[in-house]
Amino acid sequence: MGITMETGIEQAGMSEQDTPVYEKAAAVIRRGGLVAFPTETVYGLGANGLDEEAASKIYKAKGRPSDNPLILHIADKKQVLEIADGVPEKAERLMEVFWPGPLTLIFKKKACVPYGTTGGLDTVAVRMPDHPVALRLIKTAQTPIAAPSANTSGKPSPTRAEHVRVDMDGKIDLILDGGPVGIGLESTIVDMTGEIPVILRPGFITKEMLETVVGSVEEDTSLSGEYTENTRPKAPGMKYRHYAPKAELTLVQGELMNVVERIKGLADEKAEKGLRVGIIATEETMQCYAGRDVRIIGSRSDTASIARNLYSVLREFDDMDVDCIFSETFSEQELGGAIMNRLVKAAGHNIIRL
Ligand code: TXA
Ligand code: MG
Repeated sequence: MGITMETGIEQAGMSEQDTPVYEKAAAVIRRGGLVAFPTETVYGLGANGLDEEAASKIYKAKGRPSDNPLILHIADKKQVLEIADGVPEKAERLMEVFWPGPLTLIFKKKACVPYGTTGGLDTVAVRMPDHPVALRLIKTAQTPIAAPSANTSGKPSPTRAEHVRVDMDGKIDLILDGGPVGIGLESTIVDMTGEIPVILRPGFITKEMLETVVGSVEEDTSLSGEYTENTRPKAPGMKYRHYAPKAELTLVQGELMNVVERIKGLADEKAEKGLRVGIIATEETMQCYAGRDVRIIGSRSDTASIARNLYSVLREFDDMDVDCIFSETFSEQELGGAIMNRLVKAAGHNIIRL
């Protein structure tokens, strides 16, 4: 592959004794290297966001298309003024309420932000993560850190340091291990360059939550349908097949008990052909699938648990080398909208509607 290097892993805590770890990581960032670190959403793969050459290493390590821009992470709300060419009043209100947190805002960029980090766009995506390790790293490095999710392009995003190691070992300088992440889905992305804010990628911060702060908010039309030339997503990354496990993933949608029966039937059909089958179930339904390879994604009464476990369940089935996966589906209300957005992409729009 061309790139092989020793990838260090350091436990990153928040005590005084951890200072040398952050100094080491910050030094890597400042000399143009790559450091993976935890955020509250998923692990990020960080480089100096103002250094085009450093950013190009991110694309190489991930195998990511270079037209897909990166998010710049900051540690202080005021830092946005260094990279954004003007912050509209509505954005200020959103920053006040949701930063630090899982919300990325798109602004016109300043000249100091290289086109190599924005995929050639005149806009820049900015977020202040709500994770002590991320914030301490950015502060110590004294530069905005460009960071996509720290997975190989196309694979499920990493929610633990171990997921990062599997994808990035030998390709990056350092991984900061801050334990499993809290949210498990990437940030909500909102374009603030027009009069009305537009959601480009759904996430933990829902449309309803945004609207209580700034009034009417729109959704990028490409979010509601399949990708075609006419519905080109405004977040370039949303057009790629994403979050995908190795096995063929099929979603089954409908009344829950019918869904369970259909999944059992489909799973048994595949198993009879000698294929290895995985089933994504919930705490409420797991016992219905007795005798089959089932993973529990979470509880239907706790949507956040489903978000948190989604990517690690997909990665577990990768490790088990299953041939196909059948998954239940979820209501698209609130956080469920983001969960279904990722599941539908992971399934490459392969959905059976009952
Ligand atoms: O939660 C997150 O946002 C995580 C953590 C690490 O912060 N990061 C993340 O980055 O998900 P990434 O690169 O995997 O996804 C960034 C998305 C892509 O779909 C990209 O196209 C979009 O943000 N994006 C970045 N800059 C943009 C811009 N200027 N205009 C439109 N979309 C942009
Ligand atoms: Mg990603």
